[in-house]
Amino acid sequence: MSEGDGVGASTTFADHVAEYEKDIDEVLITGEEIQAKIRALADQITEDYRGRELVLIGVLKGAFIIMADLSRHIRLPLQFDFMAVSSYGAATKTSGVVRILKDLDHEIEQRDVLVVEDIVDSGLTLQYLLKNLSTRKPATLEVCALMQKTDVQQVPLDIKYRGFEIPPVFVIGYGLDYAERYRNLPFVATLRPEVYQTIAE
Ligand code: PRP
Repeated sequence: MSEGDGVGASTTFADHVAEYEKDIDEVLITGEEIQAKIRALADQITEDYRGRELVLIGVLKGAFIIMADLSRHIRLPLQFDFMAVSSYGAATKTSGVVRILKDLDHEIEQRDVLVVEDIVDSGLTLQYLLKNLSTRKPATLEVCALMQKTDVQQVPLDIKYRGFEIPPVFVIGYGLDYAERYRNLPFVATLRPEVYQTIAE
């Protein structure tokens, strides 16, 4: 298998998860587009933080895939930490309720911190996280989000490293789930409406 033929570059199901093919409506962002964007974001981050050591904070669960891919393209000393929060509850629309399910393992005081998210929807999760993290007095605090939905953000947010703007539709793949499925698809897609009727969250 040559470089570029890997999971990250795959856009077909035949070599990936054939069982999911019937559930997919439309692929919005291909695996190739995601990987190219992540390399560009990582290059920018490497440039901006040159000479420093960065703490990446992944927001579980969705961000675990982008964390793995992004971090391997950042050419800097890195440390990793994770937070788990819940914002969607059991529905496919944002609820505005944010709960910390898992906090950081380490202090971030005086550290350069980059929060890594898969998607920003209403922005409420990120707003809560940034407020919470800033009270811990990091030296710097920025955000890298692979996707941001247009026209649905309820709060002003400064996302320094943003991958894609997408329409305000429910998407799965590349870390994002419906009922805990589809996270391992290497692309971002919408689901057929029948899926919501046949699979309960
Ligand atoms: C998603 C996503 C963000 C948040 C964005 O996580 O990963 O953390 O929702 O929504 P908001 O901008 O409207 O607040 P989710 O709660 O689905 O959890 P998961 O990552 O564990 O799937």
